[in-house]
Amino acid sequence: MGFRKHYKIVTYGCQMNVHESEKIAGILRAKGYEECANEEDADIIVFNTCCIRENAENHAYGNIGALKKLKREKPSLLIAVGGCMTQQNGAAERLKKKFPFVDIIFGTHNLGRLGELIEKKSARKKAVVEIAEEGREDGCDEDIAFRTSYPNAWVNIMYGCNNFCSYCIVPYVRGRERSRRPEAIVKEVNGLLDRGYKEITLLGQNVNSYGNDAGGAFTFPRLLDDICKREEKFRLRFMTSNPKDFGEELIRAIAENRQVCHLVHLPVQAGSDRILRLMNRKYTAEEYLEKAALLRRALPDCQLTSDIMVGFPTETEEDFQDTLRLVKEARFSTAFTFVYSPRQGTKAAAMEGQIPEEVKKDRIMRLVELVNAQTRALSSGYVGKTVEILCEDRDEKKGLYLGRDEYGRMGYFRSEKDRVGEFVRLKIEEASGISLYGRLAEDEREERI
Ligand code: SAH
Ligand code: SF4
Ligand code: F3S
Repeated sequence: MGFRKHYKIVTYGCQMNVHESEKIAGILRAKGYEECANEEDADIIVFNTCCIRENAENHAYGNIGALKKLKREKPSLLIAVGGCMTQQNGAAERLKKKFPFVDIIFGTHNLGRLGELIEKKSARKKAVVEIAEEGREDGCDEDIAFRTSYPNAWVNIMYGCNNFCSYCIVPYVRGRERSRRPEAIVKEVNGLLDRGYKEITLLGQNVNSYGNDAGGAFTFPRLLDDICKREEKFRLRFMTSNPKDFGEELIRAIAENRQVCHLVHLPVQAGSDRILRLMNRKYTAEEYLEKAALLRRALPDCQLTSDIMVGFPTETEEDFQDTLRLVKEARFSTAFTFVYSPRQGTKAAAMEGQIPEEVKKDRIMRLVELVNAQTRALSSGYVGKTVEILCEDRDEKKGLYLGRDEYGRMGYFRSEKDRVGEFVRLKIEEASGISLYGRLAEDEREERI
C-alpha cells in the first residue's frame, strides 16, 4: 500500500465514542497516517471500546483476540486499545494479561496523548499504558477531529456524568461533569456551518446539567439560543436529555429556535416507580409523563424517543407491565431497548434479586414487539405525505440516496444528481418498518406528520 503508514479504527459504543474516534483519526493523520479499510493493510489498529453492557465488552475482547495471528505475522503492527473499557478498575492489567501482544493501552482522559504514546512505544519493547484518573477536557483539542459524517457533525458540549444511576458504569469511566465554555462551542459550530455542515448534534450524558459545574454561569437553553443566532438553514439536535431536569426553559428554547429539531430523546428506563427509585433516576413515571405532556402541549408535532431497560434487579412482571403501559402512554416514536447487564463496581450489580436470563429474554421480546408496533404505526402515517429530508449518503446496494427527516426517520429516494448535503422534499410512497421510501417532490409543500 505505498510508502504511507495506514490506520484502522474500530469503534464501539455511543455517539460520544464515534466522535472521539474522529479525534483519534485526526491525531493519526497529523502523524502522517492514512486510513485503510482492512486490518491486514494497517500499521496501527486502534480499538475505541465501550463497557456499558457485557456484550459490548465481549465484542471488543473477541476482535482484539482475533488479531493475535496478524500481529505474529507482522510484528511492526501497532495495536492500541482505548475508550471506556480500559478505564474500569484493574482493566489495564486484565487486558495486558489476556492480550500480551497489545502495544498501547490508553484511558478516556488520555486520548489527546495518543501521538506521544505511539512515539514512546516505538522507543521500547514493553507495552505503554497510560490511564489518568481524571482529565480536564479529555486532554484533546476539539478541532483536531477528522470528520467523516458530512453533512452531520457531532460537537461535545460536556464530558463525564455526575448522576450515578445505580446500574451505570459511565460516571466511573468518564469522570465528573466538565462543561465546555459556550464561546468555544459557538465558535466550533460556526466553523462547521461555514464549512457547509447542515446538521449539528450536541453531545453530553445529560445536556440539562450543562453549566452546573460553572455555578450556572451558562445553561443549555441559552447555549441553544446562542448557536441559533445564525441565519442560514441548518438542523440542531442534542443527546441526551435526562428527564429529571428537563423542563419549561428547554421547551421554550426548542420552540423559539427554528433550527432545533422537534425530536427529544428522553430516556425513561422503566415505568415502575419502585424500579426508578432503585435505579436512582430521581423521577416517577407520572412526572415523566407530565413532562412529555408539557412538551407536546407547547409543540404538538414534537416526537419523543427513549431508552428502556428490562430485567433490573428485583423487577417483577408487574413492574414490567408498568413499563409497557408507559411506552404506550408516552407514545414513543421509537426506543432503544436493553437487557440489564450487571457492571462491576456499580450499586445495582451488588443488589439481591438479579433476574434470570430467560425472564429477561422474554421481557425484552415483548417490549421490542410493542415498540416496533408503535414505530410501524407511525411510519404508515407518513404514506402520502411530503416531508423534508436532509440527504446524508447514498446506499450503493439499493442504488438510492438516503437521509432523515426532522424527527430522525430515514427516507430513501432515487436521484440522478448527487444530493448529499441538500435538503430535499420527498413524497412518501411506501413505509417499511422504520424506513420510508419516496420520490422527489420539490414543488410540493411539506406537511406535518
Ligand atoms: N446518559 C444517558 C444514557 C447513556 S447510556 C441517560 O442517562 O439517558 C445509554 C443507555 O444504555 C442508557 O440510557 C440505558 O438505557 C442503557 N444502559 C446503561 N447502563 C446499562 C446496563 N448496565 N445494562 C443495560 N443497559 C444499560
Ligand atoms: Fe449513566 Fe445515568 Fe449518567 Fe446516563 S445519567 S450516563 S444512565 S449515570
Ligand atoms: Fe459511551 Fe459506552 Fe462509554 S456507551 S460513554 S462508549 S461506556
